[in-house]
Amino acid sequence: METVILDAGSPEQIRSAVSEAANRLHLGQIVALPTETVYGLAACAFNATACASVFEAKQRPGFDPLIVHVSGRTMLETVAELPADVADTVKILIAEFWPGPLTFVLPRIAAVPDIVTAGLDTVAVRCSNHPIFKAVIKELGTPLAAPSANRFGSISPTSSSAVMTELSGRIPLIIDSGACSSGMESTIIRVEASGKPKPFIHLLRPGPVTVEMLKKFGKVIAAGQLSPPDGKPEAPGQLSSHYAPQTSLQLLAKPGDFKPEPGRRYAMLSYRGQPKDGYIDLHPWHAVEILSPGSGKLPEAAVRFFFALRKLDECGADTIIAEPVPERGVGLAIQDRLRRAATK
Ligand code: TXA
Ligand code: MG
Repeated sequence: METVILDAGSPEQIRSAVSEAANRLHLGQIVALPTETVYGLAACAFNATACASVFEAKQRPGFDPLIVHVSGRTMLETVAELPADVADTVKILIAEFWPGPLTFVLPRIAAVPDIVTAGLDTVAVRCSNHPIFKAVIKELGTPLAAPSANRFGSISPTSSSAVMTELSGRIPLIIDSGACSSGMESTIIRVEASGKPKPFIHLLRPGPVTVEMLKKFGKVIAAGQLSPPDGKPEAPGQLSSHYAPQTSLQLLAKPGDFKPEPGRRYAMLSYRGQPKDGYIDLHPWHAVEILSPGSGKLPEAAVRFFFALRKLDECGADTIIAEPVPERGVGLAIQDRLRRAATK
């Protein structure tokens, strides 16, 4: 299959790309679309056959459910229920963060195909704020299931060329809208009544909506701190090895942990590239990528993270050495991805 990339830069191009994407999705095809987090591989969520094609193109195992994207609360209620004991909190969080990178795990409505939820009785739902993604859902009038547009377990794509590297020949169409503005996949939460005024907010995947932003709405509990009531895994796709480059990656806790082997080529994934942090001058690196060369801030590092990881993966080094980032704000999400990338 030939993979076509449609440029969506000018307003005219955007209009025609949106209608081309919507037509193909309506016909049951799958299309890679930009979101504010990473590029997604979309299918109509109520079309089980189209959703099966998403699993096939990504080589994703059937136990790993898809996120369903909606246009807002009205469409949310076509795929999920708002349980009475947490409805108020979910509505407040929606008012605060939608459209945006916050995904809720909620009880599913039976009409959602089993393949989307991997047979779970819950469904993950989010509302993207990307103008193209929003326009495609609006034109179709139906929710879109869309995981990240990469092969299963691989580095998430934050540009159309990264989608091409991952899925060329496996999907018919990519809509190119440049680089993603937040660069890290959405935060995934499950809200649970606590018996107290503040509910529990289980953090199933850290992301751009940070713990600091969530904690005024409930007691944030990191995945794994409390076991789920029925003993089933909370986020089946949160496998310990994920977001992994082909090249082996080692995440350092401190500069002194680096023990180079003679003859091996090492590349450096640096946070700020500053000598005072103790990593950039450790070794004559084969290549260096700096996550935040400008402001030295975590949001910039998040935007560049998957792009930089992909670049180092392609630089010919034997091992990528990653410097840790501070675990606050979106840094928690970056460290989460680094840990998973380091696990093989
Ligand atoms: O930012 C994002 O969320 C991107 C863009 C494209 O929207 N999508 C994304 O999807 O990251 P994906 O499939 O790469 O990651 C979805 C994660 C997986 O870890 C999956 O296991 C989890 O969401 N998930 C989906 N449904 C779930 C459910 N019912 N319960 C728990 N976890 C769920
Ligand atoms: Mg993914």
